[in-house]
Amino acid sequence: MHQFTTVPDLRAWLAEARLTGQRIGLVPTMGALHTGHLSLIDEARRRVDAVVLTVFVNPLQFGPNEDFQRYPRDLARDAELARKHEVSVVFAPSVETMYPPGSEIRVVPGPTAAGLEGAVRPGHFAGVLTVVTKLFHLVEPDVAVFGQKDIQQAVLIKHLVRDLDFQLELVIAPTVREADGLALSSRNAYLTAEQREQALALSAALRAGDQAWRAGERDGSRLVQVMEEQIRRVPELVPDYVAAVDGERLAPVTVAEAGTILTVAGRLGQTRLLDNHVLGRAIM
Ligand code: PAJ
Repeated sequence: MHQFTTVPDLRAWLAEARLTGQRIGLVPTMGALHTGHLSLIDEARRRVDAVVLTVFVNPLQFGPNEDFQRYPRDLARDAELARKHEVSVVFAPSVETMYPPGSEIRVVPGPTAAGLEGAVRPGHFAGVLTVVTKLFHLVEPDVAVFGQKDIQQAVLIKHLVRDLDFQLELVIAPTVREADGLALSSRNAYLTAEQREQALALSAALRAGDQAWRAGERDGSRLVQVMEEQIRRVPELVPDYVAAVDGERLAPVTVAEAGTILTVAGRLGQTRLLDNHVLGRAIM
């Protein structure tokens, strides 16, 4: 396994790999790898000859009062996990490498970024789409794998590939969860034991919404109420949004059907957590 921090090193290796006809897969992450990230690597590994894992805590996608500084970083551990999962290259650039002085061009999303996470984190998705565009250009992958866990990000990257004509296969992999339902997240590391229990309200809300839908409830706002009831059981959990939205524009639906996304996000103390479930798909 190779570990690169500069663009010329990465590109030299990629040129060599292409000469030998290897298909390349890209898995972008911010590191602090957990089993969810590893499932994306495994998913990529099944589809290509060589996986490039990127580890970069992207300052552009953090707001001024967010956790950029304290975001967990452990590159040695990440590299060890990557090696075990047959990653060919770990690319871990510095901020200066990705954004040299004078760097000013941004990839700005449209209305799909306005609601949900975008409403709570202004500028977040411009930061995400800018770094993902750069990674797509640097690696020119045949396949890129992202997680459904960050559903709005996944939909916006689908639109990015479509609207900016990237020639790659985009794979959105299912959310990996703890046995009790909590979606894996690097930010779970911030939670106290008590908050770890309280965090279960998010997946419980999704399960309740799914159950109501399976029992025949099709009214979008009723499903939101059912989810809100669960969230309210944990007063420490301050919700940012609880919503039932369509899978294309992420706009609230009046009629919930298969493919409608139930999505919840909130704060436990300083820690933001989010989760979602697509109606009609298997639930935890
Ligand atoms: P990060 O939060 O590190 O997540 C990297 C990838 O792992 C994303 O595609 C995310 O959706 C996926 N992921 C996170 N938790 C998961 C889980 N429990 N199960 C399956 N997949 C999961 O998302 C980002 O980084 C950044 O915004 C990035 C795309 C790297 C751009 O900076």
